[in-house]
Amino acid sequence: MTSKPAIPRHIAIVMDGNGRWAKARRRPRSFGHNAGRKAVREVVEGCLREGVEALTLFAFSSENWRRPEEEVGALMALFVRALDKETEELHAQGVRLRFVGDLAAFDEPLRERMQAAMTRTADNSKLHLNIAVNYGGRWDIVQAAQRAAVAVARGELHAGAIDEAALSERMCLAELPPLDLFIRTGGECRLSNFLLWQAAYAELHFTDTLWPDFDQASLHQAIEDFGRRERRYGRTGEQIASDKG
Ligand code: IPE
Ligand code: IPE
Ligand code: MG
Repeated sequence: MTSKPAIPRHIAIVMDGNGRWAKARRRPRSFGHNAGRKAVREVVEGCLREGVEALTLFAFSSENWRRPEEEVGALMALFVRALDKETEELHAQGVRLRFVGDLAAFDEPLRERMQAAMTRTADNSKLHLNIAVNYGGRWDIVQAAQRAAVAVARGELHAGAIDEAALSERMCLAELPPLDLFIRTGGECRLSNFLLWQAAYAELHFTDTLWPDFDQASLHQAIEDFGRRERRYGRTGEQIASDKG
């Protein structure tokens, strides 16, 4: 009997390699970021097709402010353009769009657009699409700890009751299925401060494909790779086999 291969319920992607993709074409880095939009559409389509429930994309890290001002400006302009152009299409596809990260750092027009897109798609549930902007995994843990501290100060929580669950429920993405598959394109094998807490038991998939070249077939390959993994969560392979038997 062949059982159906496991489909990850929640996928996260570090969309890396835009700069090198552009460089190979002797174009400015912003050309690569622009080209990356198509890959975003591809993975959204792919997730809808494969029945993935949540997709979290790393679009701008808390460290990316260190890039040249011109590149940061081009990325912000791209976010605005993408929001204006893609929100309706995503809405029509039944996608719920959310931005996660420290949004206070963005200027008012961009924040308003993000909020409008979140409100517009709030009742959709086919796919939860989270765009991580000015996001850092350490920031996420810190803000959860701060929220717990506020609850303690208000007498709503005992300090001794702060456990993993109490922090988890105060982290970004808490209400979504646990992260199953963490993909990074562009060849680097590092987390770069993405979902540190949430990735504790995610399967990691690193590919040399540069982000603008990542398509539905690449996503399918990553999902197939995931289906071949044995997730043991600290137990032995024999225990897992006897559970299945
Ligand atoms: C990822 O591509 C996109 C962002 C960080 C916004 P890069 O711009 O990091 O591309 P490489 O790594 O320089 O090729
Ligand atoms: C990670 O890529 C951030 C995003 C893809 C948004 P980077 O290109 O910024 O990561 P490092 O600097 O190589 O670790
Ligand atoms: Mg990079």
